[in-house]
Amino acid sequence: MEALMADLCRRKVGYLCLLVLSFLLCLGFGFAELEKFEQPIKTDGSLSFLVIGDWGRRGGFNQSEVAIQMGRIGEKLDINFVVSTGDNFYENGLSGEDDPAFEESFSKIYTAQSLQKQWYIVLGNHDYRGNAEAQLSSLLRKIDSRWLCLRSFIVNADLAEIFFVDTTPFVKMYFTEGEGHSYDWRGIGSRKSYITNLLKDLEIALRGSSAKWKIVVGHHAIRSIGHHGDTAELKRHILPLLKTYNVDFYMNGHDHCLEHFSDKESRVQFLTSGAASKAWRGDIKERDREGLQFFYDGQGFMSVELNQTEAQIVFYDVFGEVLHKWSTKKELLSSI
Ligand SMILES: *[C@@H]1O[C@H](CO)[C@@H](O)[C@H](O)[C@H]1NC(C)=O
Ligand SMILES: *[C@@H]1O[C@H](CO)[C@@H](O)[C@H](O)[C@H]1NC(C)=O
Repeated sequence: MEALMADLCRRKVGYLCLLVLSFLLCLGFGFAELEKFEQPIKTDGSLSFLVIGDWGRRGGFNQSEVAIQMGRIGEKLDINFVVSTGDNFYENGLSGEDDPAFEESFSKIYTAQSLQKQWYIVLGNHDYRGNAEAQLSSLLRKIDSRWLCLRSFIVNADLAEIFFVDTTPFVKMYFTEGEGHSYDWRGIGSRKSYITNLLKDLEIALRGSSAKWKIVVGHHAIRSIGHHGDTAELKRHILPLLKTYNVDFYMNGHDHCLEHFSDKESRVQFLTSGAASKAWRGDIKERDREGLQFFYDGQGFMSVELNQTEAQIVFYDVFGEVLHKWSTKKELLSSI
């Protein structure tokens, strides 16, 4: 018994040392590695998931109708997980961990059997207008175990690696003009050092990734003809990384539409899925632009299917009808 206690104590001290050491390392190098989650894939080596954005309205504006069709397609594709591109709760995020909107807009809406999987979630600008830290709280995972929302993190799913990036602090306007809204910047500190560190972490992670498919997810668009259009800060800071490290897909919400852009200079496909509740019918910035493959300003969602050689992207409307389908191939050994 005594020996056991001594052993436990020693181990505790060991952990403490490790903790102090990693803390010092973080201070010294000004970077903390992005947290990584392991996501199993299917036994046949493939992977599929759904992507939605801009949704939490207690079922309103067709949120419930979209949810039903997600359930149907989710079952058909036997999805592994769901991705949310942010703006999880309107208008102003959650007020706290006990905000009933969490269950009213999430747990009680996405009830289909096929959606009872892990959800990987980022914050949008509307989430920052409420208590942003509440959405990051592990207390929410106790209410609904599907919920996993962090600022920036990585999901490693064998053949695919997905890099989730907290894009709201990139947008300077939210700090300067504020558009008459207040933002919960607790935990961000200085905008400049926050995004500098985040870009450093992202670059290290992208450079080190040997995954067949590399996907970056953020709330704000890099290419969009919708209401908000391109996000200048992301074009400047994120786009060069996507090109340098051969990222396959950049997925976002923010503009309330479904949209697909290809790029002339790189393999990056820009995919907007921000239409899971209120859509902005007709609110378009430009009619057309080079690289635009598809644009729909009604409600809907997106699915992604991947294996070692092929990727397929499909957009669906509120009735679950296919609006746009796109696929690409890779050589089996090309990443080695
Ligand atoms: C719900 O979807 C239908 C079909 O696209 C559309 O006609 C209707 O306007 C939508 N309702 C709202 C409130 O957006
Ligand atoms: C990948 O999926 C496509 C389409 O379903 C299929 O034709 C192909 O054989 C699959 N490749 C591998 C390596 O499983």
